[in-house]
This record gives sequence, structure tokens and C-alpha cells, in this order.
Amino acid sequence: MKKIKVNLQENSYPIFIGSGVFSNLLELIKEKKLNRNIFIITDKNVDKHYKLNIESVFKNYEYKLNKFVIKAGEESKCAEVLNRIYANLLLKNYGRDTLIIALGGGVVGDLAGYAAATFMRGVQFVQVPTTLLAAVDSSVGGKTGINFEKTKNIIGAFYQPKFVIIDANFIKTLNRSEIICGIGEIVKYAFLADENFYNYARKNIHKIFEGDEKVIEKLIYESVKIKAGVVEIDEKESGLRKILNLGHTFAHAYESILEYKIKHGEAVIAGLSAAIILANKIGIMNDKNYNEYIEFVHSIKITKSILNLDKEKLYAAMLKDKKNREGRIKFVLPKKIGNIIVDIEIEKSDVIYALSHNEILFEQDKLKNKNSIKKNSISLKNPCKDEIKI
Ligand SMILES: NC(=O)c1ccc[n+]([C@@H]2O[C@H](COP(=O)([O-])OP(=O)(O)OC[C@H]3O[C@@H](n4cnc5c(N)ncnc54)[C@H](O)[C@@H]3O)[C@@H](O)[C@H]2O)c1
Repeated sequence: MKKIKVNLQENSYPIFIGSGVFSNLLELIKEKKLNRNIFIITDKNVDKHYKLNIESVFKNYEYKLNKFVIKAGEESKCAEVLNRIYANLLLKNYGRDTLIIALGGGVVGDLAGYAAATFMRGVQFVQVPTTLLAAVDSSVGGKTGINFEKTKNIIGAFYQPKFVIIDANFIKTLNRSEIICGIGEIVKYAFLADENFYNYARKNIHKIFEGDEKVIEKLIYESVKIKAGVVEIDEKESGLRKILNLGHTFAHAYESILEYKIKHGEAVIAGLSAAIILANKIGIMNDKNYNEYIEFVHSIKITKSILNLDKEKLYAAMLKDKKNREGRIKFVLPKKIGNIIVDIEIEKSDVIYALSHNEILFEQDKLKNKNSIKKNSISLKNPCKDEIKI
């Protein structure tokens, strides 16, 4: 079992990573002297797959224990479900000495975290992420919250867990598109990190689909290390943490225009591609890097189309993003691996250009897949410069 410590001014916490570490949950709770009255929040899919594991971990548990199972999916991250959680906690006489365990993906983590942050002005909370996205992203950093009236994550709190357990075995029951969601964030970390991790990710990321435990653990560990390092420096997103939004300005616009029918991680992949195009267009990324990065990002095949979207509407969605102020869009763009620029304001025409040419690249991917043409015989048009061969 590997351990990463998130060092914060207050409420530092450890993250335990390994295959099978979920079975150590109670031991860790005891070791950390956490509350014993446990309220597990999970969703139907996770419960279906891991009911027996949960029962085995809590076999003969002597203290108060309840499991609250929500419907799987983003719709559950709402005030109605949150209210049901509060009502259930009260009904079962939970008090200040409660420990809420979030066992699930980002939806469960965000919702359970916010319930923990607010019930009785805050009770203890442990995160057990079960999706790749939750493992490398949402379970680390303390952002919790719910959606409200069609606006995502608009109500929430920064609230840190007591610890996080990332069991790589959970990844094995995820379907392909859920894995791609996590990969989107891992690819992002590869750009934020250094050449070592970038090269490792580039070479090995596809082995996640084969269930290669060693690769999965390493990619999770390195990704979490980066996120934890950034969160340590900037817990409340006032500076450095903005680099975690690489690709996300575009991604949020794709999600919004597609009415969230595209998964976040897939939108992040499309967003990273657009950010790379934009960085090359405005001259902060050279052509050699551009070609290599685009090839890497497009090697992850997304399942939802971003073709034929209205570019003006996408631009308008970016302006509305809650991270932007005073009608200005602040972009986070990569110069090269480990060299990210934040808060850049860009001419609208360049943004539209990036959106249009992103579409061209994804259209070419689609054709390539459809015609099953051999990879090395395809000519990908570099939207910014000359034709390139891949
Ligand atoms: N707090 C943050 O910092 C942060 C960061 C990124 C994303 N998020 C939030 O995370 C959410 C998305 O998270 P997600 O992608 O994990 O979605 P999710 O929680 O909806 O999980 C995706 C699907 O996988 C299923 N599932 C979960 N674990 C499984 C397993 N081990 N095996 C089989 N199926 C399993 C779920 O039931 C669900 O159907 C969004 O609401 C997003 O806003 C939060």
C-alpha cells in the first residue's frame, strides 16, 4: 500500500493507494481514532458490484452502521437527495460523532462530502473513490457540492476528508467510457507533470483497458501526487490550482452545449485537444510539440461526438462559465510539458479557430475509425500549419 500525504495548514490527510486496500478500511478508521458511528453513502451500481465486499469489511461491526444507496448518475447530485440524506441521518439518530463514508464515483463523493460538511456543521468524512475519475481527481482536494437548477456544482464547500482509500481493484468493473473519463484527467496530469510521467503515460495509458494493475496503480499514484501537490499550495483555488483547469474551459463548454450528454472526462479530452490547438495558434507552443501532443490526446478515442456544434454558442458558454469574470475568458494553456500558462485572455477569433479546427481533427478521427485505414497511411491536416504525417 502506497501513501501520499496532503499537507494543508489545517486538516492534513493521507491518501492510501493499492490493490485490495479497501479491506483495510476499519483498521485505518481505528488507527486514526475516527468516529465509529458510520453512515455509508453509495450508489446502486457500486452496491450491486461490491455489496459482498462491504458486508465482509463490516462483518460483526459493533457500532452504529447504515448504508444509504442513491440512484446512480449525476441527477442524484441534487438538493432532494441531499435532503433525504439529512432526514435519514436524523431518523437513525446520528449526531456529531458521525463518520460519513463516500463509497462511489464523483457523484457520491461530492454529495456525501457536502452532506458531511453541513450536517451538524460538519462531521467526519472518508472518501473511497470507485471510479478512475474519482480516484485521480474528485476524491482529492476537498471540493464538495451539488448541482442546483441546472447549474453544476453551484452549491458547495471546501471540506477535506479524514483520509482517502484508493483501491485500484474497483477500476476493473468500470465500463470503457467510465475508464476514458478517468484517462482524460490522467492525460491532463501528464501535461502538468514532467517528461518522465508524460512519457510513461504516453507509452502505457492504453494498458488501463487491459486491467494492468501495475500500470493502473502507477498512473493513479503519480496523478494523485500531482493533484495533492497543487492542492497543498493552493487549497481554495486562488492561484496555482488553476492549472488543474487545463482543457476545462473548452470541456465545460462542450458539456454545457451537449446538455451534459457527453461525459466530463471525454469533454476534457476534447478540451485538451482544443487547448493545444489554441496554444499553437497563438504561438506559445512549437509545431513539433503540437504534433506530438495532438497525437497523444487523439490516441484516446472518445465515444461522444463533438462535431457540428455551433461555435458561437460554445463561445457564449465559455463566457458564462463560473470561473470567468467581467465578460473575459481566462484560458489555461500548455506551452510544453510542465510549463502551463494561466489566466491568458485570447481574441475571440482565435478561440473560434481552435473550436473549428478541433472539430476537423475529431472528424478525421471518426473517418479514420470508420474506414479502418492503417494508421501510418493517414494524413492529418495540421489546422495551424502544414500537413503532417502520422
Ligand atoms: N470534487 C471535485 O473536485 C470534482 C472533480 C471532478 C469531477 N467532479 C464531479 O464528479 C462527478 C463525476 O464523477 P464520476 O465520473 O465518477 O461519475 P459517477 O459518480 O456518476 O460514476 C460514473 C458511473 O460509474 C458507476 N460506478 C462507480 N464505481 C463503479 C465501479 N467500481 N464499477 C462499476 N461502476 C461503477 C456509477 O454508478 C456511475 O454510473 C461529476 O458530478 C463531477 O462534477 C468533482
